[in-house]
Amino acid sequence: MKTLFDETTLRGIRLKNRVWRSATWLGLADANGFMTDAIISTYETLAEGGAAVIVTGLTSVSATDAHIGGECKFYDNRFIDGHCRLTDAIHRHGARILLQTAMVDGPVDELTTAQVDDVVAAFGDAARRAEQAGYDGVQIHAAHFFYISRFISPLFNHRTDGYRGSGILPAILADMRDKTSDSFLITMKINSSDGYPGGMEKEEMVKACRPMTDLDAIEVSANGTSQTGIRAGVNEGSFLEATAHLAGEVEVPVVLVGGLRSVEFIGQVLNNTKVEYISLSRPLIREPNLINRWQQGDTTPSKCVSCNGCYRTEGHQCVFNIKQ
Ligand SMILES: Cc1cc2nc3c(=O)[nH]c(=O)nc-3n(C[C@H](O)[C@H](O)[C@H](O)COP(=O)(O)O)c2cc1C
Repeated sequence: MKTLFDETTLRGIRLKNRVWRSATWLGLADANGFMTDAIISTYETLAEGGAAVIVTGLTSVSATDAHIGGECKFYDNRFIDGHCRLTDAIHRHGARILLQTAMVDGPVDELTTAQVDDVVAAFGDAARRAEQAGYDGVQIHAAHFFYISRFISPLFNHRTDGYRGSGILPAILADMRDKTSDSFLITMKINSSDGYPGGMEKEEMVKACRPMTDLDAIEVSANGTSQTGIRAGVNEGSFLEATAHLAGEVEVPVVLVGGLRSVEFIGQVLNNTKVEYISLSRPLIREPNLINRWQQGDTTPSKCVSCNGCYRTEGHQCVFNIKQ
């Protein structure tokens, strides 16, 4: 029987329970994309709160990428020192930290093969820097119609070279493996649905994941993530069906994210499917200490009401916490 609080290992790295903090962009980097004390303090509070793995908010690997306000950048060695301070702080609390490597925007069909090689190399270089900065690993952001997610969607990719279909994913993984050590975790977050006719759906996702046998985990999401109206015990697990399906099709451990609010539901998922880990965003914005609370025996569901008010606050805080 699996429980939320089982200790596991990935690539020999000990994880103290099965809970991940899903990537949550904070918008708190400085104007040039450098690390700030506010980011470190937010993640440190989460690490104290009990999650085994913290995935950072999306962090751009490219100097020429579109910019979204307060996003961290990681395209140059100058960024490493600030991230060392972050990884040290997290490790002091016995948690693991993965850098979510991303690009916001970019062309797909228009790029030459050599130009896509450069995109791939930018992800690999970011993984190398992440290891230098003390991260336990990275997560390739291939979800939510950020660049890599569009790059692998049939709606955008009409290429005829090796980068057709989802071909960029194994290329990024191989480049990251080349540039990091054997004990570095490489994971991926992917869409199980683009939510548009002709876009990526469950079977395309499975096809994209099959060659990625060298990944350490796959987190399954979809466009239209952060769904509103989630109620504990009523409609939890927004992407459960597709995620459980993938977990049955691949050997790589699969992480369920989206609308998880109760220990009871999570326990059912862990024991009725091959899902190995669960991931939370908004519940940990509302209650950074939620995992400790659950572990200490108060298993009342998350207080998050899935209003998405957090998206509109500075630093993506819970509106209920600000009012207090
Ligand atoms: C404020 C906010 C920022 C987010 N930023 C990211 C991000 O940077 N990268 C990402 O993959 N997902 C991001 N997400 C999506 C979450 O990781 C998660 O997939 C989604 O909120 C569903 O999980 P939940 O119901 O536990 O909140 C964000 C969500 C929120 C609420």
